[in-house]
Amino acid sequence: MTMTSKVSYSVQNFNSDLEREIQRLYLQAQIMWKQESRNLFWFGLQDGMSVLELGSGPGFITEKLLSLLPKISITAIDTDPFMIDYCQQRLRNYIGNRLNISCCASIFNTGLPDNSFDFAIARLVFQHIPNPVDAAKEIRRVLKPGGKLVITDHDDEIFFIHEPPVPEYQIMSEKMRLAMATRNGNRRIGRQLWRILRDAGFQNQDLEIIVSHSDDQGLEIFTKVIDPELFKSVVKQGWATEQEMQNYLRAHDEFISSPEPLMLLAWLMASGEKP
Ligand SMILES: C[S@@+](CC[C@H](N)C(=O)[O-])C[C@H]1O[C@@H](n2cnc3c(N)ncnc32)[C@H](O)[C@@H]1O
Repeated sequence: MTMTSKVSYSVQNFNSDLEREIQRLYLQAQIMWKQESRNLFWFGLQDGMSVLELGSGPGFITEKLLSLLPKISITAIDTDPFMIDYCQQRLRNYIGNRLNISCCASIFNTGLPDNSFDFAIARLVFQHIPNPVDAAKEIRRVLKPGGKLVITDHDDEIFFIHEPPVPEYQIMSEKMRLAMATRNGNRRIGRQLWRILRDAGFQNQDLEIIVSHSDDQGLEIFTKVIDPELFKSVVKQGWATEQEMQNYLRAHDEFISSPEPLMLLAWLMASGEKP
């Protein structure tokens, strides 16, 4: 699978190397967990529920859920055999007990029975798929009546603030958005989440913004989650020039050495209920 294939996200190719990307996903799971978990409860997650996690990746969120809620059971699905294998290795103590991992089911066709889950979570996967309404319909099918879907995802225009501002970041980010759009990715999916849920037949939708920032968590974790290396693939694919990349790296260094740099990251969380 290469960056030029029609796959918006591939762990092997999204960053400069696989280990770096896994580490980035790990930190990305830490950075917003306080706010995310708070909202999951607000949206109705409770201990003892049967939970479906779609696009579970390496299982960092799966693990957090399993340890936070000792009586939930989780079915985790992902299309990438590497991710499934990685998750199976890490969470082997839970498998067959409270965790069921399904290789390699898609969000469009989970192969799971109708009306079988209380709660479904799709974190940072809707931005990587075509036809999001079809995916949400499939999730609605497998939820029990009254069951909830929560989608946590990204929208470029509210995603990231630097203070002092770094316009060179915005330039690279826009090139990344365009590059991903050619592979069925949508880095403006956040604004569409409510309508996706509505059009897939969910009711009682809710939409929240969650925020994490470096004054709370320190700058280092943010520089690893918004890893400048991510933009190298955009240059490799011809969407940005070497010069633009150099300009960004220089601006990033200047930002880091500015007197009181601040990074602030925001995602959207949308929930809907199956009638
Ligand atoms: C950015 S990762 C997020 C992983 C995890 N949800 C997290 O927040 O750490 C996106 C994941 O979605 C998976 N994915 C992409 N398309 C998918 C599909 N059609 N069905 C299921 N999973 C998919 C990818 O393989 C990848 O593991």
